[in-house]
Amino acid sequence: MPAKIAIIGGAGSVGATAAYAILLRRCASELLLVDLDTEKCAAQVLDLSDAAFLSDTKVRMGTPKEAGQCDIVIITAGAKQRPGETRVDLIGRNRAILSSVIESMKPFKQSAILLLIANPVDVLTYFAQKLSGLPQSQVLGSGTYLDSARLRSELSSRLEVAETAVHAYVLGEHGDSQFVAWSSAHVANTPLLSLSAMKGVDKKKLAEDVKNKAYKIIEAKGATYFGIGGVAASICECIIFDLRHVRPLSHYIPELNVCLSFPVVLGHSGVRQTLKPPLTEEEEELLKKSAKEMRNVIEKYEL
Ligand code: 2OP
Repeated sequence: MPAKIAIIGGAGSVGATAAYAILLRRCASELLLVDLDTEKCAAQVLDLSDAAFLSDTKVRMGTPKEAGQCDIVIITAGAKQRPGETRVDLIGRNRAILSSVIESMKPFKQSAILLLIANPVDVLTYFAQKLSGLPQSQVLGSGTYLDSARLRSELSSRLEVAETAVHAYVLGEHGDSQFVAWSSAHVANTPLLSLSAMKGVDKKKLAEDVKNKAYKIIEAKGATYFGIGGVAASICECIIFDLRHVRPLSHYIPELNVCLSFPVVLGHSGVRQTLKPPLTEEEEELLKKSAKEMRNVIEKYEL
């Protein structure tokens, strides 16, 4: 399936790392990097072309109009968190950037899938669907995929089982109101919390460490990009090869009227199905709180 992927914000560290990860996964025939900083974007393309021997993906600079005709458009353009800033703190700047980016790409290929990476990703995913007019199933955000990967990595080392065997999700906002659905987490259908290896684990602290990992990295090196770059590549691979993996991604949840992360079945046409896990009363309350926080931000910046 010769797929074309565009990365808006390709000059930046997240965009270029996502490009590199996509190139290594050999899931695209062509990769277009688009950025206002054309000089740095051209340099990223030159640098990536030196890795072209690892993949048959053609990498080049593209225009916003060309991006709009690609199969997948990854939007990383926007300000990144400064130390101490929350993801929601970025909304004022990044909402404006998103609006101009989407307008510059129209008209979109009818089957195009938009993948939001820029933060606050849940609110930007909501606005991207409104601004682009693409079907809700075709506009998604990386959401808590990265948080869930961080959680599974921690659990995997404590339980001494492969990450792929740990079925545990961070749900809600990719941000401070996220929560871990502990009650439905399992390893081979054995409830995670019943495992003896979990007895000594401080769940509250583990969830907090996962939630705050990005802050810790940003404080030390200014930004995160390897994790989110890998997430972008994994999502693209799942779409392009119609793998129908189940991933926690930000997408429109009609009953909440916001975009938040629940596990979805992801395929060639985007979100095929939402699989909301059973939640305890406490988890339902955390979900409502997360949705309310996103709703408040949306209403403040509504079109
Ligand atoms: C992350 O969680 C900053 O949202 C980015 O790594």
